[in-house]
Amino acid sequence: VSAHPLASEAGAQILKKGGNAFDAAIATQFALAVVYPQAGNIGGGGFLVGYTKKGEKIALDYRETAPKNASRDMYLDEKGKANTDLSQNGRLAVGVPGSVSGMFYTHQKFGKLPMSVLIQPAIDLAQKGFAITEREANLLNETREDFLKHNSHPTAFTKDIPWKKGDILVQKELAQTLKLIQKQGQKAFYEGKNAQLLVSEMKRGNGIITLEDLKNYKTKERKALQFDYKNHEIVSMPLPSSGGILLAQMLKMSSFENLEKYPQNSPEAVQVMVEAERRAFADRAEFMGDPDFIEDKTQMLISEEYLKNRWKNFSFEKATPSAEVGKIIAQPKESTETTHISIIDKFGNAVAVTTTLNGLYGSKVVVKGGGYFLNNEMDDFSVKPGVPNMFGAVGGEANKIEPNKRMLSSMTPTIVLKNGKPYIVVGTPGGTTIPTSVYQSIVNVIDFKMTPSSAVNSAKFHHQWLPEVVFVEKNFPENTLKILEQKNYKFEKRGGIGRTEMIVI
Ligand code: DON
Repeated sequence: VSAHPLASEAGAQILKKGGNAFDAAIATQFALAVVYPQAGNIGGGGFLVGYTKKGEKIALDYRETAPKNASRDMYLDEKGKANTDLSQNGRLAVGVPGSVSGMFYTHQKFGKLPMSVLIQPAIDLAQKGFAITEREANLLNETREDFLKHNSHPTAFTKDIPWKKGDILVQKELAQTLKLIQKQGQKAFYEGKNAQLLVSEMKRGNGIITLEDLKNYKTKERKALQFDYKNHEIVSMPLPSSGGILLAQMLKMSSFENLEKYPQNSPEAVQVMVEAERRAFADRAEFMGDPDFIEDKTQMLISEEYLKNRWKNFSFEKATPSAEVGKIIAQPKESTETTHISIIDKFGNAVAVTTTLNGLYGSKVVVKGGGYFLNNEMDDFSVKPGVPNMFGAVGGEANKIEPNKRMLSSMTPTIVLKNGKPYIVVGTPGGTTIPTSVYQSIVNVIDFKMTPSSAVNSAKFHHQWLPEVVFVEKNFPENTLKILEQKNYKFEKRGGIGRTEMIVI
């Protein structure tokens, strides 16, 4: 399952050729970099959570890193005011890309078919072009001014007349880059001609990524975050993603109230889940960051004892004020690309990958001669304590900018095991709404016994401690809202929350 039929098709072809889920994950990621340029990428980063037929639980971290010349206050002006335009747009917003390294690492350890075969579908799609969807046409049109502003050279993504559904998007430069990677391996991206092109692109503006940054990039294998939930074993992403920890905290806290006894999206169920979200996100802001730079408090944060204590001030009578569950550093603004792949194969392997450029088309910068978008992942650091990132998330010391550090993420690629075998493979884009969407989708299946499609499509809500508002999708049950408003909850309707890609076996 992926966000684009042509990318899913590329993965399915690989499975038919005898490849395994890891091979299919690689082919699908490369294909998404072509057919879903808003989020699919080679200029971004991601996480892979896997389960092998031998029973190994895998967590690969190919998150971007801060360049070595990055520093804590790099986005502050002389007055100490944060300039989030710089952390979100243009060359200074770019973290050192990890995706190509991650895909090669995956291949070396778990792949079956040759890498050249896995890249080929993407090359064909880039070279021959493909018909774009209406949504893609609209997004390209809406972002046109930004593309022009951040690129001095013509790119494949703008043309003289507006894009429309069915137009063919051909990406010749990207096809060249992919062919180079196909021929020379990951070095072609991190050291050779491409590295030169990327660094030259940095120099066309205020970018700071160097040849050394690229050469030093490494995928890290982490210990997968594992915990039990109602006779299921959950395997998710550890730090530097907050996703797995948040998921564990939320599932465990809501289980204190026997969630399954209330109807799905009833006032009681929603209240319990919102309060679990509130407490988990307060912890995110205070404790979470790259474990290679901070003290890793994961085991404490997901322990029964800690969470029981955290849950003490929960009451069905009224909302818990956010100030009572965490130190409020500043009043954040609220604002609102990423994509997820879920795969199982006939051999018994399961793979969940969430990959991202961060914002829609990332920094909007396309590498001249390379043909691909660069991420704007630097914005996922706390640019300044208390200043919210583009998803309204605040943070402090734990997630401050430091050279070579990975920025905190919310991505939550997750595999749920039942009787020791893969049962659910799930994940989604959506910034901070990622852990809450994964949380609700899993609860919908396990506690509320819903089918996968209703679990995914049913109205979602989202709370993240700050702002002190619960966001709900437009079709959310009015009765639940009315009852909870009387208990001091404030709701705000917004567009879709998450675009969850779920397999239930
Ligand atoms: O790593 C993160 O949490 C964010 N960069 C994810 C961004 C995202 O999901 C945007 N999607 N709509």
